[in-house]
Amino acid sequence: MKILGIETSCDDTAVGIVEDGRNIISNIVFSQADMHSEFGGIIPEVASREHIVKIIPGINKALNEARMNLNDIDAVSVTYGPGLAGSLLIGVNTAKSMAIASGLPFIGINHIEGHIYATCLEDIELKEKPGFPIISLVVSGGHTDLILMKGHGDFQIIARSRDDAAGEVFDKVARVLGLGFPGGPEIQKISESGNLLDPAFPRPKVKNSMDFSFSGLKTSVVRRAESMGVYPKKDDNDVDQKIADIAKSFQEAIVDTIVKNTINAVKRFKAKGLIIGGGVASNQLLRNVFKKESPIELLIPRPSLCTDNGAMIASAAYFRLKNNLTYQWDLDVYPSLRIDSN
Ligand code: KG4
Ligand code: ZN
Repeated sequence: MKILGIETSCDDTAVGIVEDGRNIISNIVFSQADMHSEFGGIIPEVASREHIVKIIPGINKALNEARMNLNDIDAVSVTYGPGLAGSLLIGVNTAKSMAIASGLPFIGINHIEGHIYATCLEDIELKEKPGFPIISLVVSGGHTDLILMKGHGDFQIIARSRDDAAGEVFDKVARVLGLGFPGGPEIQKISESGNLLDPAFPRPKVKNSMDFSFSGLKTSVVRRAESMGVYPKKDDNDVDQKIADIAKSFQEAIVDTIVKNTINAVKRFKAKGLIIGGGVASNQLLRNVFKKESPIELLIPRPSLCTDNGAMIASAAYFRLKNNLTYQWDLDVYPSLRIDSN
């Protein structure tokens, strides 16, 4: 079964075609990062206008690369939430029109569910191996969620961030340090030439809860940047090493916090597998530390499948269709959709 997946929840116009939930036939991503970097963050109106321009070329490119036309496709799937309303609308309306016009099944997918199923694109069958329950950590620009998955389509959020999402913190810290957008890859790159600061940044914990909180860490980074003369920005070459040191120490602190919290959840729920997904899961340090620390089978898609893409939506749709968990034509966009309300 070949499913076309459309993803326009944020600032990437993405279309993928996947066979049987695991085999990527094509996966096109038109990034808007350059457009938004000018403003240091995503401007929703700019994002949705760009989706309008790119969505049809994206679909055509995905079909061309797959050497297919719409007659070869068995179903159309799309992200319907969570995300930016204007951006989601472009994907949902395009997918619906395509599915109605070509008489194909239409499957709405939760974006977070897509990040979880990106793992299956590494040729993994979750039910057989590692088997349920699975703990999934989705760390992206909008989410830091720990999800207990007891079966396909059976999700329970067991912890979230009480304030900023992990990717948002990477982006904000990068802005304070005068680095580009998105901040995660910039922080990872500059950290390579940094040294760990003493004292280290705090590893924030929420009392009696598995929830995350990053606002204390963020404030601590801003204060240190001020005291080291890095922020507000100075046009001075000798701040470069200080920026690298702060970036490396911040990355170390946030990764440590995320990994510890996640491993605690794995032990508490006696999970058989641990999935990591979302843009921040492409961070090399996070991947390395999880590989070292995970007490159970660890499943992390390659970095290009951790950031937003259409193939992950098509994969999630395959397992929904297989388990009769599909939607009606009146499905609308749902900007604040939760994964446990599907
Ligand atoms: O999943 P994603 O592509 O889009 C959302 O659904 O939000 O995640 C984007 C986020 C951004 O905040 C970006 O800074 C972060 O993922 N990110 C990274 C890295 N690559 C992307 N964070 C840390 N290290 C990276 N290498
Ligand atoms: Zn995402």
